[in-house]
Amino acid sequence: MSSGLFSRNFKKTFPLAARGEGCWIIDQSGRRFLDASGQAAVVSIGHGVPEIGHAMAEQSSQIAFAHTSQFHTASAEKLAARLLALAPANFRNGGRVYFTSGGSEATETAIKLVRQFHLETGEKNRYRVISRQQSYHGSTLGAMSVSGNVSRRAPYEPLLAEWGHIAPCFCYHCPFEKTFPECGVACADDLEVYLLEHEADQAAAFIFEPVVGATLGAAVPPEGYVARIAEICRKHGILLIADEIMTGMGRTGKAFAVQHWGAEPDIILVGKGVASGYAPLGAVLVSSRVVEAFERGSGAFMHGFTYQAHPVSTAAGNAVLDYIESKKLFERVTPAGKNLRDALSSLQSHPNVGDVRGLGLLLGVEFVKDKATREPFPRADNIAERIRQAALAEGVLTYPTQGCVDGQRGDHILLAPPFTISTEESAVIARAVSSALATVFSA
Ligand SMILES: Cc1ncc(COP(=O)(O)O)c(C=O)c1O
Repeated sequence: MSSGLFSRNFKKTFPLAARGEGCWIIDQSGRRFLDASGQAAVVSIGHGVPEIGHAMAEQSSQIAFAHTSQFHTASAEKLAARLLALAPANFRNGGRVYFTSGGSEATETAIKLVRQFHLETGEKNRYRVISRQQSYHGSTLGAMSVSGNVSRRAPYEPLLAEWGHIAPCFCYHCPFEKTFPECGVACADDLEVYLLEHEADQAAAFIFEPVVGATLGAAVPPEGYVARIAEICRKHGILLIADEIMTGMGRTGKAFAVQHWGAEPDIILVGKGVASGYAPLGAVLVSSRVVEAFERGSGAFMHGFTYQAHPVSTAAGNAVLDYIESKKLFERVTPAGKNLRDALSSLQSHPNVGDVRGLGLLLGVEFVKDKATREPFPRADNIAERIRQAALAEGVLTYPTQGCVDGQRGDHILLAPPFTISTEESAVIARAVSSALATVFSA
């Protein structure tokens, strides 16, 4: 069928999603797909929850849009207060929330916000937002500039600013070829090494994904990493931005992943799960210290989007949080994640499954050519995509990515189902991945 949509891939055909029910998506022909990746770690409460649509319709019938240069809305105020209440303590007394229409806009907003923060505090040299290789912070040009995902950046390299990328934190393929704990978390110290070698007085902030999602397939930092990064940021007077667009809103078992390590970043970015896919929504949570600089300074952030803090999107966010609270879904993530990992444990003995990793319901399965050396397959073998296709043939949707080893090689799939995933559904996922392994590796 020809399409008028400028689709993501002209060589692929896409079924028409017609309906959603819990962890399942049903296409127009009636075929059912188990959504093992929550689309892209987006859907947390499950598909087809009618309360969310009702709340959005109610908001829209009252007031669908009011420009933020003229009005605030109760819906946005309420969600801001609720997000701040979930955040670490340094957000709770005087923090504020900047709502966007998605993750990339949140990253873009944070990049400009940290720049203006330093202008407000008289540090006019500071503008560079340092980040990590092998990371993803969004698809707009600022967000792409801080991202380290090699293939997503490649076509746009001439357009991207270079503010500095340090080593990733990735124990399974350690960039320093060291092992924890003997490594002394050298990957965190790499931030300080970088700052000392590259005009530390121009650095404005450091941005990182607490658990690296798409690019590294749920790579969890070792104990001490996040604390050391926070300490280096404080020492050098730069702000710490936690990109929790994928990991936030309960995905790893706590409201925000940084809470696993007791960290208090200056800014937290959310997206995806904040409205569970029911509406386009992202947010920049700004801690009290950063807010105060604006209050004492110009009082106005030179930035804005027409659709920021959209009342219908924030109503969806409130309804999703109501649902999460009433069903105690954040509490479900750790046990449901354990269930899924247990179901996947049988894969671990497969000669081409190198690692099953992650936190809560953000899990990654990495495929290797040689388990002993962790050698990846050649990129041309296209293993991750072939696993996706084979799992899809079993009716299970996964999120494949290549490049976790060096930007080119390294194949993994991400599993990030809704928090409502049942034990039986976890078993279906594990069986489909197991059967995909048999299909791909017997060929
Ligand atoms: C960690 C992270 N940051 C930013 C983004 C960009 O968000 P969006 O696609 O909503 O613009 C993503 C999306 O996958 C992400 O995973």
